[in-house]
Amino acid sequence: MRAVTLVSTLLAVPAAFAATASDWQGRSIYQFITDRFATSDGSSPPCDTSQGQYCGGTWQGAISKLDYIQNMGFDAIWISPVVKNLEGNTSYGEAFHGYWTQDPTQLNSHFGSASDLNALSDALHKRGMYLMVDIVINHLAAPTNPPQYTSLYSAPFNTESSFHTECWINATDYPTPPWNPGNQTRVEQCWLGDTNVPLADINTEDPNLVQFWYNWVANMTKTYSVDGYRIDTAKHIRQDFWTEFQASAGVWCVGEVLANQTEYVGPYTKFLPAVLDYPTWYPLVSGFMNPQGNLSALVDTVQQTQSTYGNGSYSGSVIASFLENQDQPRFGGQTSDQALIKNAMAWPFVQDGIPIMYYGQEQGYTGGADPANREALWLSGYETDKPLVQHAQALNAARKAAASANSNFYNTSLKFIESSASQIVASKPPLLALLTNQGSSSSPQWTVSSAGYQPNEDLVDVVSCTKVTADSNGGVSATAQGGNPMVLVPASALNKSGSVCQSLATGSGNGNSTSSGNQSSSAKISAGLHWTSIIATIGAAAFIAKLVA
Ligand SMILES: *[C@@H]1O[C@H](CO)[C@@H](O)[C@H](O)[C@H]1NC(C)=O
Ligand SMILES: *[C@@H]1O[C@H](CO)[C@@H](O)[C@H](O)[C@H]1NC(C)=O
Ligand SMILES: *[C@@H]1O[C@H](CO)[C@@H](O)[C@H](O)[C@H]1NC(C)=O
Ligand SMILES: *[C@@H]1O[C@H](CO)[C@@H](O)[C@H](O)[C@H]1NC(C)=O
Ligand SMILES: *[C@@H]1O[C@H](CO)[C@@H](O)[C@H](O)[C@H]1NC(C)=O
Ligand SMILES: *[C@@H]1O[C@H](CO)[C@@H](O)[C@H](O)[C@H]1NC(C)=O
Ligand SMILES: *[C@@H]1O[C@H](CO)[C@@H](O)[C@H](O)[C@H]1NC(C)=O
Ligand SMILES: *[C@@H]1O[C@H](CO)[C@@H](O)[C@H](O)[C@H]1NC(C)=O
Ligand SMILES: *[C@@H]1O[C@H](CO)[C@@H](O)[C@H](O)[C@H]1NC(C)=O
Ligand SMILES: *[C@@H]1O[C@H](CO)[C@@H](O)[C@H](O)[C@H]1NC(C)=O
Ligand SMILES: *[C@@H]1O[C@H](CO)[C@@H](O)[C@H](O)[C@H]1NC(C)=O
Repeated sequence: MRAVTLVSTLLAVPAAFAATASDWQGRSIYQFITDRFATSDGSSPPCDTSQGQYCGGTWQGAISKLDYIQNMGFDAIWISPVVKNLEGNTSYGEAFHGYWTQDPTQLNSHFGSASDLNALSDALHKRGMYLMVDIVINHLAAPTNPPQYTSLYSAPFNTESSFHTECWINATDYPTPPWNPGNQTRVEQCWLGDTNVPLADINTEDPNLVQFWYNWVANMTKTYSVDGYRIDTAKHIRQDFWTEFQASAGVWCVGEVLANQTEYVGPYTKFLPAVLDYPTWYPLVSGFMNPQGNLSALVDTVQQTQSTYGNGSYSGSVIASFLENQDQPRFGGQTSDQALIKNAMAWPFVQDGIPIMYYGQEQGYTGGADPANREALWLSGYETDKPLVQHAQALNAARKAAASANSNFYNTSLKFIESSASQIVASKPPLLALLTNQGSSSSPQWTVSSAGYQPNEDLVDVVSCTKVTADSNGGVSATAQGGNPMVLVPASALNKSGSVCQSLATGSGNGNSTSSGNQSSSAKISAGLHWTSIIATIGAAAFIAKLVA
């Protein structure tokens, strides 16, 4: 699979990658709303989020800012939906976000032409980056109720019988296991939206419409060389629709199953390659929001996902984690404590699976609920010396460094050496994450007596760029200045020619030959063999960590 990527990169062929779950496993995703990310001519028009209007971002604009994304260490982007949406204003503004499909067979001309979208895809592939496209399959939008089916939609949707009979989903329909069964039939067959902008629920029980979507997604993958999809409102279509859909897509797909319960979300991982990590997102946000948060709830949720997700396989390959997205208030708008923000931001990068960062988080954006959380990024000037830009860069670098030293890093389950309501010691060798919700006025002293490193091994905390030396038992004692997270990797795993903590790094960043899987370096031996054998033979319970003060 790497060979295909490499060849395509070298020859700059706009190839169909057919990127699989394992191709995606080592990547990290930068998510943005095309209309709000970058303009074609580099201009900075005003953009009042409360108005809900198109602000001018385009696919060509995105091409011009790929350096900005790649310099933070991201190697994939997730862009907002690309297809033709309702034109004009509604009670909720215009369809700048892309979630109001009118015609899935045409593109949204506000963002550019087919050749512009292909140019974005090519530009990404030339950099070895991936394109993930957001898609809405469950419904089409309408500016009136009932929709004017014949005049508004094109075939096969230009008839009322292509849709489920109108009824509105309400809060009591959503199952909330283990105590409330809800009514999943209504979730799948009634409508989202309201009488202002109804979201007409497509009859995905009709075999012709099912076949339309399977053909459509295969064609999208081919036409625009798409590497992956984020599937909107996946829980609103029967689960077994997705099995052949994702096979037709031919690339990795991550479904949005918005729910606060692993019991509800988990089964979707049998029908889709991956789901957004919503069950963990809830305790992530509440856990790091303030010093009263409960990080034990986050740990519990991760352990549930690890034991129940997937087709009996490792859960890390079936989740994509995030702190912010276009549907939720920004974390930075809910606390101003930068240490709490840095701890919460670190989470998706140390959690199992694939990390996603929502644009603007790195610039310290604070927007509240939709539409306030959809700010124009150009208003930030794309500054790269901001603390959270550097934080994102460090977190991506730590992940890559750990993977370069341990070829099984990405499919090793996160283990909790120690956790409480206020702190987490999480290990995925050779990465050790020390997270706290005590805030910037605290300075926790960490003592992890059996951290699994080599005796006296040189480590780097990529967050503060400080050196930490393991003790004679491979344990770690360190102070987290200002309540910041600590994310430790061996100095020998960190790229000394890279852009993160360069002066402390002693490695080449390639694990002393990533491509051959050569195990000769000391980083590999200490990180891979030493760690796994300790965990396997002694078990996680033998790791004792103490948090002093
Ligand atoms: C769009 O509609 C909203 C809600 O009715 C209104 O506040 C806004 O002024 C309209 N904008 C334009 C440009 O017509
Ligand atoms: C594939 O999609 C393109 C662009 O939307 C369209 O022009 C073409 O007709 C589609 N082909 C098929 C076979 O659906
Ligand atoms: C929600 O839908 C159910 C039908 O399943 C109905 O009985 C109930 O009254 C609705 N609730 C509201 C608040 O509309
Ligand atoms: C769920 O909703 C469907 C469709 O409205 C209805 O036929 C069914 O009786 C409901 N089931 C329960 C258990 O209420
Ligand atoms: C999510 O679920 C947990 C556990 O049931 C609950 O304590 C919490 O309040 C829920 N969060 C939200 C936002 O519903
Ligand atoms: C899960 O396993 C079932 C049964 O083996 C298989 O049919 C299905 O394709 C698998 N799903 C995924 C997403 O791998
Ligand atoms: C924190 O979460 C854990 C695990 O969900 C729970 O057992 C505990 O009661 C919670 N603590 C508080 C103070 O809510
Ligand atoms: C883990 O990932 C590595 C590298 O991609 C792969 O060689 C190995 O087979 C994977 N192991 C499992 C159990 O999936
Ligand atoms: C190490 O960093 C240098 C400079 O940024 C870069 O050219 C090289 O590709 C990196 N090595 C790896 C394996 O990422
Ligand atoms: C691999 O690491 C060893 C020990 O650090 C070093 O001597 C050697 O030059 C490295 N080889 C390559 C190809 O980087
Ligand atoms: C592995 O590394 C050793 C030491 O640097 C070197 O002699 C050997 O050729 C390498 N093997 C491969 C397959 O690259």
